[in-house]
Amino acid sequence: MVIVETKKLTRKFGSSIAVDSLDLNIEAGEAFALLGPNGAGKTTAIKMLTTLLPATSGEALICGFNIRTQPNKVRNVIGYVPQMLSVDGALTGMENLLLFARLYDIPSKECKPRVLDSLAFMGLDDAAKKPVHEYSGGMIRRLEITQSMLHRPPVLFLDEPTVGLDPIACKTVWDHILQLKKEYNTTILMTTHLMDEADHLCNRIAFMSLFFASNAIYPIDIMPVWLKIISHFNPLTYMIDGMRVLMIGTTSGFSLLTDYTVLTIISAALVTMGGYLYKRVII
Ligand SMILES: Nc1ncnc2c1ncn2[C@@H]1O[C@H](COP(=O)(O)OP(=O)(O)O)[C@@H](O)[C@H]1O
Ligand SMILES: [Mg+2]
Repeated sequence: MVIVETKKLTRKFGSSIAVDSLDLNIEAGEAFALLGPNGAGKTTAIKMLTTLLPATSGEALICGFNIRTQPNKVRNVIGYVPQMLSVDGALTGMENLLLFARLYDIPSKECKPRVLDSLAFMGLDDAAKKPVHEYSGGMIRRLEITQSMLHRPPVLFLDEPTVGLDPIACKTVWDHILQLKKEYNTTILMTTHLMDEADHLCNRIAFMSLFFASNAIYPIDIMPVWLKIISHFNPLTYMIDGMRVLMIGTTSGFSLLTDYTVLTIISAALVTMGGYLYKRVII
């Protein structure tokens, strides 16, 4: 059963495009990692899926609920650990969780046992009564994961769950995520910069690059102006277009002959210029 499904999910900020036609299908119980450099759009994708940010276009379903038309239903079935700190440092771990248990509408009789159980599950029972500002980074991350899972959601979104942690704290967080997955069969969509983290925790990964998200080519009509200008002088534009004609028979602009003529002229100009500069500047 597909739990997270996106179809051409797109988010623009003004003329710049943060997430470009993202297509994902994540099955129940799967852990899926989105990798990519800073600014690739990972957090923006997660914010759209958690209904915190409206999509510019495209669709997404979480457990069959539409993020645009059924946001409340989506919120009931997800847990979310944001990239930035989401617990209150002045409260104890226990107080933070009790607050969230009430926000999640957990019946009041069940709140305390659920919180105590969850703290024990994440190995935080000894620290439950300490204020969070006395916690280590790894303990805070574990508390945030505990908080996001209090209502036992089937889907968990983790935005860079181990950022800034030392290797031992990282490993403890990893162990608890794996335990969560095993115990509750939670479907996980996470972002990370760490290959070994994705490898250790996830069944599948996708890579979001800075300019090309899921489609082969960044569509020219939604490029920011500066990128449009560069693309006219970039031999790669003509080479990819030409290769696409040869391989799948469609073109985004010119005929094959035009593509390769322009490619040859630009490449020759770049080689000549490079040779000239080499002689003038280096020799
Ligand atoms: N609220 C916002 N307003 C304008 N631009 C934004 C906003 N949020 C994110 N962006 C831009 O969207 C792009 C993707 O950002 P983000 O999703 O945070 O990337 P990542 O999480 O992969 O590092 C960046 O270029 C960022 O500057
Ligand atoms: Mg981010």
